[in-house]
Amino acid sequence: MRRTHTCGALRAEHDGATVTLLGWVNRARDLGGLVFVDLRDRTGMTQVVIDAQEGGASGASALRAEYVVRIEGRVRLRPAEQRSSRLATGDVEVVADTLTVLSEADTPPFPVDGTVDASEVNEELRLKHRYLDLRRPEAMAPLVLRHQVTKAIWDFLDAEGFVQIETPLLTRSTPEGARDFLVPARNRPGHVYALPQSPQLFKQMLMMAGTERYFQIARCFRDEDLRADRQPDFTQLDLEMSFVDQDDVLDLNERLMQHVVQAATGVHVEVPFLRLPYRAALDRYGSDKPDVRFGLELITLDEVFAASRFNAFRNVLDAGGAVRGLVLAAEHATAVSRKAIEELEAHAKQHGAKGLAWVRRAGDGFSGPIAKFLSSDEIEHLRALATGEGDLILFVADRWSVACTALGAVRTRLRALLDLPLAEGHAFLWVTDFPLLDRDEDSGGWTYMHHPFTSPEPDDLEWLERDPGRVRAIAYDLVLNGTEIGGGSLRIHRLDVQKRMFRALGLRDDEVQERFGFFLEALRYGAPPHGGIAWGLDRLVMLLAGAKSLREVIAFPKNQRGVDPLTEAPAAAERAQLEELGLGVLERAT
Ligand code: AMO
Ligand code: AMP
Repeated sequence: MRRTHTCGALRAEHDGATVTLLGWVNRARDLGGLVFVDLRDRTGMTQVVIDAQEGGASGASALRAEYVVRIEGRVRLRPAEQRSSRLATGDVEVVADTLTVLSEADTPPFPVDGTVDASEVNEELRLKHRYLDLRRPEAMAPLVLRHQVTKAIWDFLDAEGFVQIETPLLTRSTPEGARDFLVPARNRPGHVYALPQSPQLFKQMLMMAGTERYFQIARCFRDEDLRADRQPDFTQLDLEMSFVDQDDVLDLNERLMQHVVQAATGVHVEVPFLRLPYRAALDRYGSDKPDVRFGLELITLDEVFAASRFNAFRNVLDAGGAVRGLVLAAEHATAVSRKAIEELEAHAKQHGAKGLAWVRRAGDGFSGPIAKFLSSDEIEHLRALATGEGDLILFVADRWSVACTALGAVRTRLRALLDLPLAEGHAFLWVTDFPLLDRDEDSGGWTYMHHPFTSPEPDDLEWLERDPGRVRAIAYDLVLNGTEIGGGSLRIHRLDVQKRMFRALGLRDDEVQERFGFFLEALRYGAPPHGGIAWGLDRLVMLLAGAKSLREVIAFPKNQRGVDPLTEAPAAAERAQLEELGLGVLERAT
């Protein structure tokens, strides 16, 4: 069976060599007795010429796309006018002596020979036959890139003294803000394992075990609404370090990222990365994962409008809210019609805003629906921002976070609408100084921003009970080109603080004991200060590959409904299985 060369290997220098190739028939053209076959494997393609009339290579006329064949033959230079720069092997062809068909193939449900662009084939169909889809070199490339990223991670972290350790998949719930996938336990009817949303508690206990530096390419499971950048099972680079402060973790991650991007893509990334405190990220970009490859920064206008005659602004400011503005120079603003503004307003409302006010510079003053409310002081301030005739200013007034995020959403939409250019390269940055807790809109109580094991800023600890919203976390997110690709924190390593944190989250002591008793106990026996991070590996590879969805960088992904079109998982459970598990079905999906 041995091959002498892969299908991507042969060059002019091999002229005259006797070779054996293995691969798939990409295309076969029968030119009346002379059959030309493009033979394909993972490495590339070689043109094979078979003289169907000669005894040795009989059967050539029957060759069809995707047959798997073995070819023995001799390399020869193609005539000068037939050389092809399209293929790396385009200077040569192989004249076959022997042809062996190893497998025949039905006509594939969609062509994989490069004649039809994948975007023209229904994605569901491609996922149903993903093993065919992946025969396209463009489909396989992201998986190879992913391998290179993972290998670079292993190499770097190994050299830095990290130990790779696997943690269980059948475990207890690990709260990361999503629903759990549950696995019923046959031996204990009514009991379930949860698949991990992350290895968070195990990696912390590994620090308590003295591991000091741990990492894992970890599978995680989250039952949440799916989007292009979310999968129900996905992969993290998970890592944790003992006796570190925030700078140690950020510094190591910057060097790791620099190494990974260089090794996998050959691109140099500058370190250190920009660090933006959470408040500044929202104030300036209206997002905790800002894309800083374009400008259009938001402007703080709270003072300008403190005495506004426009009720929507003044009421908001009187109640402690915020007014944010966004200035669009006339060269772009002329493209933003009234209709476009209405569309932007609808977009802002989807993000919680009550409206989107605007004015346009006209002469010494402004036009637009709220222009009549502007005082001469306000006009003067705004004139300094909108200096050119026709410049447009958009406003949102609301609670601080809503005003920022709604106008941030408008900022992102405007970039797309106006097709504003993005700066070249990878825009990595850290968002730091997150609040520890966030208001839970539903319950009115407090919920965690990252997870319940994140350390409060020690200086803020005194506010944990009295003014929880004021407590900052020692937490950081890693952002690339406007996508959150990682998040981590220093952890609580003291039992008393962990208990206070659970209380601040409104959890009763008995509840905490039931869910996290094992972890609280572990904290009793000497926990080192520790911290870490998890990268969304799929997301990172997606961005490095220039892919549009996570599905392109996962070998066998789920579709947007959480279904795997190939195996058709999830599938109906069999009655016998359910009985064994002590389960009954109340309502069955159709
Ligand atoms: P977090 O929940 O922020 O942190 O997850 C870390 C990173 O994982 C990626 N990610 C996802 N990728 C694809 N599909 C999903 N459904 C999905 N959910 C998250 C994101 C995210 O930044 N245990 C903590 C980490 C820590 O504190 O060390 C954690 O899991 O890119
Ligand atoms: P109204 O006075 O409600 O008719 O609103 C006049 C203009 O102000 C409309 O364009 C609204 O979209 C806008 N607007 C109303 N409330 C707000 C707000 N809180 N922030 C920004 N614009 C607003």
